[in-house]
Amino acid sequence: MIVLGIETSCDECSAAVVRDGREILSNVIATQIELHKPYQGVVPELASRLHTEWIAQVVEAAIAQAGLGKGDIDAVAVTSRPGLLGSLLVGVSFAKCFATALHIPFIGIDHIRAHLYASQIENPLEYPYLGVLVSGGHTVICRVESYDKVDVLGTTIDDAIGEAFDKVAKFYDLGFPGGVVIDRLSKSGDPNAFLFPGPTLDRTEHPYDMSYSGLKTAVINQKDKFRNGDAPDTPENIAASFQRQAVGILMRRVRKALKDTGLMRVSAGGGVAANSLLRSELKDLEKGGYTVTFPSLKLCTDNGAMVAGLGYMYLKDGFHDDSSLSASARVSAFKKA
Ligand code: KG4
Ligand code: ZN
Repeated sequence: MIVLGIETSCDECSAAVVRDGREILSNVIATQIELHKPYQGVVPELASRLHTEWIAQVVEAAIAQAGLGKGDIDAVAVTSRPGLLGSLLVGVSFAKCFATALHIPFIGIDHIRAHLYASQIENPLEYPYLGVLVSGGHTVICRVESYDKVDVLGTTIDDAIGEAFDKVAKFYDLGFPGGVVIDRLSKSGDPNAFLFPGPTLDRTEHPYDMSYSGLKTAVINQKDKFRNGDAPDTPENIAASFQRQAVGILMRRVRKALKDTGLMRVSAGGGVAANSLLRSELKDLEKGGYTVTFPSLKLCTDNGAMVAGLGYMYLKDGFHDDSSLSASARVSAFKKA
């Protein structure tokens, strides 16, 4: 089955063609980063307008790069929730029209599940496993039972981890997108130059929950209070010290969740799963006998291939949507148990 995957939930306009859920024939990602850069953040109205202008060409390019024609596509999968409503609507409307014109099925896909599924395309991992979903909008530790069944163990109670990266970078004018810049600057910084605090969240009823607003506030408003001796106050040192604690907050909960659940497999996904420190700390778990997978860098951030990959799983099991499919800005079926 050849599935066309469409992703327009935020600022990447992407389409991919994937055969049988595993073989990526094309994965075109037209990023709007340069156009949002002057505002140091994604401007929703601009994002949806650009998706409207680009979507047809992006889909055409994906089909052509796959060496196929429109008639070879068997089904369409499209991100329908959560995300920026105007942006989601462009993808959903396009997918519906495309599928209806070709008399093929289509299905709406949850963006968060797609991020969690992304690593399965390249490195299939046996269920169940501990899922670590880290993006600009979400921070979730969960038990993944199947492509469709996910039990949330912990989430951020305020800012998402990627949002914290982006806000710190914006405040210090380090560049956009913040996560990528902080990751790069950290490589030449001292992670102990500032000893930023992590949350004391040992609330027994929610032991896997996280918080990033305290760390963000400490880095932005109280930097000097946490300076370690006379460590130089450089962007590299601020970045490295922030990144150490941002990843530390997550990893402490991941380690606890692994211990408590007895799960021996871990898989990460989402834009922040591209972070080099997080990748190396997750990889370190292998020393303790755990199996760890994460997507290649291209499949961490928003892309159509993960949507086509997960879409294939639903379609193969007989699920599809009808013309009533709409877009939703909010997370629907991804709540804490
Ligand atoms: O998954 P994604 O592309 O979009 C959402 O669904 O949110 O994630 C985007 C987030 C942004 O916050 C970006 O700063 C962050 O992922 N990000 C990174 C890195 N690359 C992207 N954060 C830390 N280190 C990176 N290398
Ligand atoms: Zn995303």
